[in-house]
This record gives sequence, structure tokens and C-alpha cells, in this order.
Amino acid sequence: MTSSKRPLVIGNWKMNLDFVEGLHLVQQLGVLLKNHPVEHTDVVVVPPFVDLRTVSSILDSERLAISLGAQHVNPNDNGAHTGEISTSMLKRLNVEWIIVGHSERRTHYAMTDEIVAETLRSVVRAGQHAVLCVGENSARREAGDYEEVVRAQLDSALRGLDERFHALVAVAYEPLWAIGTGVNATSTQVREMTEFVRTVMSSLSFSAPQVLYGGSVNPENAGSLVRDSDVDGFLVGGASLKAESFYAILQACDDCYAIKR
Ligand code: 13P
Repeated sequence: MTSSKRPLVIGNWKMNLDFVEGLHLVQQLGVLLKNHPVEHTDVVVVPPFVDLRTVSSILDSERLAISLGAQHVNPNDNGAHTGEISTSMLKRLNVEWIIVGHSERRTHYAMTDEIVAETLRSVVRAGQHAVLCVGENSARREAGDYEEVVRAQLDSALRGLDERFHALVAVAYEPLWAIGTGVNATSTQVREMTEFVRTVMSSLSFSAPQVLYGGSVNPENAGSLVRDSDVDGFLVGGASLKAESFYAILQACDDCYAIKR
């Protein structure tokens, strides 16, 4: 990590942990953070919608230095959208971060580039932070044109976005072949792609965007990934479901930032 920005680590629980389990996880994480605070790292947890109220209350009552995120949002303000949730509903629950265009939504729930762009705009207009997910599948990685996939995803989501919203956008490079597989991208691959993301974003007039990596990040690989690549932090799935493993990843980022600063 050569960036001077504070690391950002986001735990995406996906469709795991009901509100009781979520409460326990946040309480355990809270104890670890109170005993040994991570001083330099920003922490976000992203529970399922039905856990948000409970997790929001515990973060508030325990005064934990953890921000709250949501996994998805509908771009419309309100109305006849059965089963959907709006940015204003999330805001009332103190949700500050929203994941936009996760590959699981793109692949399994028909989230097109157009819907991703629309959703990202609704998030930043509401004053919330968007974590835009981009990344290629294994076929495109093997074909060697993975940069084109990522360039097109960034371009369609971000081109023309009003500059006053730029600071609310972070990007997570999450190659599909690394998500939930136990096979993480190497530090060299992460470095190459975070640099590429920054180059494309710079061509879209973004200055110093926060670029995260996601895909089988765990306590064993987090230290070397953050040390040897230029990444600003992680979007963590499986390893965010246990307080100890998520906390170890936070510590790895925090140690690295403290040493390199
Ligand atoms: P894993 O860390 O389980 O591979 O998931 C990554 C991810 O998709 C986070 O959004």
C-alpha cells in the first residue's frame, strides 16, 4: 500500500446471519475493537436489510467506530416496487455506504450496466457513499481482455457523473473467479488492476479515488495483499462473518498503514 489514504475495509455479509446472529457478530467485533482499536482504518459492515435496524442500534448505543452499509438499493425514490428498498429508507437507519453493482446482482438478478449507473446516481444524490463493484469472469481473464471489461464497467457507471459527487464513490475490483473460491488474485494482479482502475478513473476526471480489492481475502493473505499492492483496502465476504477473522484483516491494514505512513 503506497497510497496515503486511510485504509477502508468493508464486510459484506451477503445473505448470511439473521438479526440475532448479526447482533452477536457486531458485539464481538465491538469488544475486539474496544480492547485493541484500529486507529487508521475505516470499518464498514454490510448486513442483510432485515438486520440493519438491530445493527444500527448497537453501533449507536455502544458508540462503535463502525459505519453501516447496505448491499443493494433501488434507484427509485418510492412507489410500486414490491420487494425493494430506497436510499431514504436506508438513510433513516444510518446507512452511509451502499454496494452498487456487485457481480452477484449483475449475474443473477439482471442488474445491467444501465441500472448500475442509475443506482449509483441515486446513492450519491442521497449523500451516501457508493462502492461500485467491477471485475471480470474467468473466461475474460483467460482470454486476456479483462481490462476492457473493467474499463467498460467503469465508463458506463461513472462517465458524466457530476464532479461534486466524485468523493462519494469508491471502487472495488472483485474478479468473479476470486469471489468465494479461496483463490485470491495475487498482489501483482491486484496492483496491476488497481493502477488500471485509477488510470481509467483519472480519464473520467476523478482524482485520488479509493480503490479496494475483493475476492477470497482472509487473515492469511490480507497482510501481503495490502503491503505489496497499491490497494486502499478490501471488500470482504466470507471472512467478515466471524469477528476474529474480520478483525485480523482490519489489523493487517492498520499495521501496514502505520508502518508505511
Ligand atoms: P469472498 O471474500 O467470500 O470471496 O467474497 C468477496 C465478495 O464478493 C465481497 O463483496
